Amino acid sequence: MSADLIAAASSAAARAHAPYSRFRVGAAIRAASGAVYAGCNIENAAYPQGWCAEPSAISAMVMAGETRIAEICVWADSARPCTPCGGCRQKLAEFAAADTPVISAGPAGERGRWTLGALLPEAFSLDGEA
Ligand code: THU
Repeated sequence: MSADLIAAASSAAARAHAPYSRFRVGAAIRAASGAVYAGCNIENAAYPQGWCAEPSAISAMVMAGETRIAEICVWADSARPCTPCGGCRQKLAEFAAADTPVISAGPAGERGRWTLGALLPEAFSLDGEA
């Protein structure tokens, strides 16, 4: 059941620091232990220095001592369902398997569901090193 994850991502979006884009995003990760870690996007007056909600949530997870993602939800009140940006897909792939569910949600609840592998096929990995 993903209702708790969606609620955590929604609460995180309310904390977003997004005065420039006004696009508030929350991400919530259910880690292998079952614990949920959340984060928001944090923008900066020097625009490229801001970062997405997903790395904020990943940071909370790693600082709690966990390194495996079981499920992730990205929440935004947007016209189209918000999916992780390209860079965030790679960041998630560091800690999640290809079959990990990625949920997009908004004020009305779940809007879409994919696997990380569907969003990032042929992900880069150092396993491919010569
Ligand atoms: N954003 C996220 O937080 N996650 C994504 O996956 C997509 C984009 C943020 C970055 C920026 O603060 C705002 O949304 C507009 O791009």
